[in-house]
Amino acid sequence: MRKLCIFIPLLLLLSPAYGYLLRFTLYTGSEMTTWENAQAFCREHHTDLVTIRNEQENGIFSGYGWIGLYHKSGSSIWKWSRGDELANYTNWDANEPQTDTDCAYKSSDKWRTNRCDVNHSFMCYDDLILVKENKTWEEALVHCRSLDGGNTEDPASSYGNYSYDLATLITPYDHTYAREKVQEATTDEVWTGLCNPAGEWLWVSGEQMQYKNIPSCPTNGFCGVLEKRGTTSFQIRDCKLRRNFFCYKRI
Ligand SMILES: *[C@@H]1O[C@H](CO)[C@@H](O)[C@H](O)[C@H]1NC(C)=O
Ligand SMILES: *[C@@H]1O[C@H](CO)[C@@H](O)[C@H](O)[C@H]1NC(C)=O
Ligand SMILES: *[C@@H]1O[C@H](CO)[C@@H](O)[C@H](O)[C@H]1NC(C)=O
Ligand SMILES: *[C@@H]1O[C@H](CO)[C@@H](O)[C@H](O)[C@H]1NC(C)=O
Repeated sequence: MRKLCIFIPLLLLLSPAYGYLLRFTLYTGSEMTTWENAQAFCREHHTDLVTIRNEQENGIFSGYGWIGLYHKSGSSIWKWSRGDELANYTNWDANEPQTDTDCAYKSSDKWRTNRCDVNHSFMCYDDLILVKENKTWEEALVHCRSLDGGNTEDPASSYGNYSYDLATLITPYDHTYAREKVQEATTDEVWTGLCNPAGEWLWVSGEQMQYKNIPSCPTNGFCGVLEKRGTTSFQIRDCKLRRNFFCYKRI
């Protein structure tokens, strides 16, 4: 087994045109709706209403609107819509949270409560999916692209039509988040969507648009992993090794 140790400077991978891995979408204007309708919409079209875990995420999910935070009447415990996680981090405005209102929205950086049946803009997000199965890079690619029934038999013809793909980690924030999430993997390394078909590194999802015509990657056999214990951006491995992998939802 040949192991190459090539460190890709993260800077080479930065592309200003694309956002965060934890992408969020703000719905506003005529789409303003109640907290429950917003939750149902986000769960259908994205992952959920946004969960905000720390100050950095609070800055990233910028905007005005419903967030995933709610509490049950009579309870003082605030939870996130996604997985009913307890809200460890909060950023309440002055005089908040009110005890008689059950849903939370964000106004600038600060959070406020409101009646859940009021219409507000709202924020949905799309998460990174860690698949704890051991697959080669190409099997992992097929797995991700099958998550919503794309035509994996003919990747070239349906290129760009997948909702899911092997994950693209573009910004330093994506990278930090993925590094946290990789700790849950059952393998020490996890495939990402990074591959090298002809001596040039690219994201299989086509995020670097000049590579748009390349439907699938490993012709020379090297693909990119993120390591549990590594300190570098990515490591390069033989694409035939079996690893857990990250899928993500494209928008
Ligand atoms: C809150 O803390 C618990 C325990 O450390 C953790 O499992 C959970 O994921 C945290 N929730 C959020 C939203 O950060
Ligand atoms: C909320 O929006 C719906 C339509 O999206 C509308 O029928 C309803 O009257 C609005 N409610 C309020 C309180 O503005
Ligand atoms: C994947 O590989 C790891 C490490 O070899 C192993 O611990 C784990 O049980 C494997 N998982 C599956 C689902 O086979
Ligand atoms: C995407 O799918 C549609 C219909 O399924 C097809 O007409 C279109 O050519 C596909 N686009 C690409 C870029 O393959």
